[in-house]
Amino acid sequence: MSRIFSGIQPSGSLHIGNYLGAVKNWVDLQNKYESFFCVVDYHAITLPYRPADLRARTTDMALSLLAAGLDPEKCTLFVQSMVPEHTELAWIFNTLTPLGELERQTQFKDKASREESVPAGLLNYPVLQAADILLYRAELVPVGEDQLQHLELSREIARKWNARFDVEGGFFPEPKGLLTPTRRIMGLDGQAKMSKSLGNTVDLLEPPESIWEKLRPAVTDPKRVRRTDPGTPEVCNIYHLHKAFSPPATVEHVAVQCSTAGWGCIDCKRVLHASMEKELAPIRARAVEVAANPERVTEILSDGAEHARAVAHETMVEVKDKMGLR
Ligand code: TRP
Repeated sequence: MSRIFSGIQPSGSLHIGNYLGAVKNWVDLQNKYESFFCVVDYHAITLPYRPADLRARTTDMALSLLAAGLDPEKCTLFVQSMVPEHTELAWIFNTLTPLGELERQTQFKDKASREESVPAGLLNYPVLQAADILLYRAELVPVGEDQLQHLELSREIARKWNARFDVEGGFFPEPKGLLTPTRRIMGLDGQAKMSKSLGNTVDLLEPPESIWEKLRPAVTDPKRVRRTDPGTPEVCNIYHLHKAFSPPATVEHVAVQCSTAGWGCIDCKRVLHASMEKELAPIRARAVEVAANPERVTEILSDGAEHARAVAHETMVEVKDKMGLR
């Protein structure tokens, strides 16, 4: 069975963009692969933060992942800072990574341009990401398109380390991206990608009334001004959400009703709301169960870390041996 690895920042709760863009796919993949899923708190300290917040966001993220359907019987779910080998391997990879490659990463340029003073950790962020993946010698990495550049760098680091220290063996596989089937989810403003910092999200655990309050005024086809104007589903964000949440027959029906002005946008949103409820209600119910038993969450994370550490330790023993380290 091939091994997969993916990581998610401890941003607190998941929004439906994270869910559709990544986590829903993980829930499916855990049945098919030997899976490692990691809440990457070391990545989250590259910009200023409050320790108590980070602790809470990490716990909340683990809770959301379990609610979304990650099953500790099927996958290894853990927190990055509980497995110190991640930073150990990252240091080693830092010695192999050309500075120019790091400066070229678009995510770095983006984030750095918004900071007065840029910590080295922000620059080295993708090196830690390479360590995350290669520590488990994972072959596949389920990510969104925005992570492909980081993944290319991970492959380069694997090649370089192999060439230098394991010429014949190819100790590290070159990890490939496994793109999520859902295209990226726009925020309810229909303007930009759904993102917590933009405040245009729907939380995965949000109550149905509150979801409706957001859907009702949400941007649709901007050219459809009057109820009698026919709409163009492909340019409508609500239609794309239908594709993510509604069954194919409903999606087809929605497209016809929109383009013939059979339905108004509110009708269409009501149907979307019902489809979302169908998927989200069981997730909310599971979240309540998980939250009622915090000791169990702690136990899941420490079991996960223990298993991850065993695998990570094996890798590090070989890495250090081949590199002449003790
Ligand atoms: N950089 C990723 C993100 O922001 C998170 C991440 C960290 C990750 N390490 C990883 C993703 C390893 C995949 C594999 O989404």
